[in-house]
Amino acid sequence: MSFGPDVRDRLVAAAREAMKHAYAPYSKFHVGAAFLTDDGQIFTGCNVENASYGLTICAERNAIFAAVTKLPSTSKLAIQAVAVVNSQNVACSPCGACRQVIAEFAGKSGVAVFYQAADGIKQSTISNLLPDTFRL
Ligand code: THU
Repeated sequence: MSFGPDVRDRLVAAAREAMKHAYAPYSKFHVGAAFLTDDGQIFTGCNVENASYGLTICAERNAIFAAVTKLPSTSKLAIQAVAVVNSQNVACSPCGACRQVIAEFAGKSGVAVFYQAADGIKQSTISNLLPDTFRL
């Protein structure tokens, strides 16, 4: 699916807003994510770290898990696009764990992924970022 700069800019702005809530005292790497669902809703999340580092949750998964809790129990989350930004404006695509979780909730036309690359916001797809996704 192709998206114009309007959708990209809206999602990037929502991700930047969510990033302000990040709790990242250990890495100081603040991340924000914003998802657009197939039915036009936007959900956001930020990373939340812990002194026990392995308990940290990434912005993308935080946003998805929060969205699942908010949707009616009868509907499955269907994501059509996501934007991920970070406070240091360095190249940062979704980590492997987040790719797997995004793929679980791919919408009917797949998922467009916008993320910070070395030369600005790059557009990809979840199937490019995670081919041969694990499925049950
Ligand atoms: N982080 C995310 O929130 N999303 C990613 O896709 C990669 C990493 C967070 C986790 C941790 O709080 C910080 O970035 C440094 O790894």
